[in-house]
Amino acid sequence: MPAGVVELRGPRLLDGAAWSRARIRDRAHLENWEPSAPGTWAERNAQFAWPAQWSALRSLARRGMSLPFVITVDGEFAGQLTVGNVVRGSLCSAWVGYWVASTAVSGGVATAAVAMAVDHCFRLSGLHRLEATVRPENGASLRVLSKLGFREEGLFRRYLDVAGDWRDHVCLAITEEDVPNGLVNRLVADGRAGRG
Ligand SMILES: CC(C)(COP(=O)(O)OP(=O)(O)OC[C@H]1O[C@@H](n2cnc3c(N)ncnc32)[C@H](O)[C@@H]1OP(=O)(O)O)[C@@H](O)C(=O)NCCC(=O)NCCS
Repeated sequence: MPAGVVELRGPRLLDGAAWSRARIRDRAHLENWEPSAPGTWAERNAQFAWPAQWSALRSLARRGMSLPFVITVDGEFAGQLTVGNVVRGSLCSAWVGYWVASTAVSGGVATAAVAMAVDHCFRLSGLHRLEATVRPENGASLRVLSKLGFREEGLFRRYLDVAGDWRDHVCLAITEEDVPNGLVNRLVADGRAGRG
């Protein structure tokens, strides 16, 4: 079933309550796919932890190193999408990472959010390539990227510390030439999304 109207916007200081509520509730849904970090899950995802995260995201964005987004569905907080490690020059590449609250999954939210982010990066941010690294066990995330036409470029062995150990990750990527008319247009043409 379609999830609703999916939008991307910048993170706000006032997102803390919704962010923390979703992340504390969704520990089992998220923990196996996200980088390990110091502190307990409850500490890292408490409402009081948000202002520092929000400020760090804004600071990276101001320096042109990241494009942080909140994903909303029908105007409500539903997850995050971050374009990170933006490298310019002759590479013009970045990674994309995302999570969607368990209450909003399986309705095409991540697919729509990544499509909008890719279009934004290629059309407005001057990037040429986006990559995503995904654990081979993460069927839902691999499916999102495969629906969007990201291609598999290799397997990174023991690449990232996730849930307390170094985990293999599949690297998938897309370049501007792959989507001359935009990914959102392609999703709509394929009947996978409509315009809100
Ligand atoms: C991965 C995630 C972002 C997907 O969000 P979503 O909004 O449900 O994504 P979509 O609905 O756009 O697409 C999910 C697709 O995966 C499919 N899927 C769901 N669970 C799956 C599984 N275990 N194995 C294979 N496919 C699966 C869905 O059926 C859907 O495909 P379809 O449209 O062909 O039916 C979400 O599950 C999530 O936040 N997971 C935890 C964090 C995470 O993994 N982040 C990404 C790290 S790389």
